[in-house]
Amino acid sequence: MLKVILTYLILATTSCIADQIINVGCESTGNKIRPAFHASMIRHPYTFSDPNEILRFERVWTNIGEGYHSDTGVFVVPRDGLYQIMGTLWSTGGKNCAASLFNNDSRLNYGHAGTENAQSNTVHALVILKKNDRIYFKNRGSTSHQCHGNYHSEFSGWFVHE
Ligand SMILES: *[C@@H]1O[C@H](CO)[C@@H](O)[C@H](O)[C@H]1NC(C)=O
Repeated sequence: MLKVILTYLILATTSCIADQIINVGCESTGNKIRPAFHASMIRHPYTFSDPNEILRFERVWTNIGEGYHSDTGVFVVPRDGLYQIMGTLWSTGGKNCAASLFNNDSRLNYGHAGTENAQSNTVHALVILKKNDRIYFKNRGSTSHQCHGNYHSEFSGWFVHE
């Protein structure tokens, strides 16, 4: 019996199989971190000189796993898994804020906040992603778009499951 228990403990500490039963803490070690990020748009109003510009959410609140890059606005997936991605876009008076959510070159979703001041739109995706996939919001083809910064528009995502 003792031998069985010892074997079980060795297996648990080396393979994480029994982590949920005896909590050996293997989720917090090595590459088993659970990536999560949240960032807010600061520049306001957020105007565009490029019709296909990637939106940057400059103020980073959370960046577990260091996947989000505030200099480019891109979340580079640190680890394979199921992820919940969220974005909220706000408009300013008289202009649309229109941007799509992308994974690499594939569109995941459309975001659009209308022309009245402080309209907002939430975009979400629950998707299986691969390490190094690039998740970002891209302005939808016009330099006349304008978004509401000043902590209104935001971008977040988190690892849900392997
Ligand atoms: C996305 O691009 C990266 C390289 O930039 C690549 O490693 C990854 O496999 C691509 N993902 C998909 C789903 O094509």
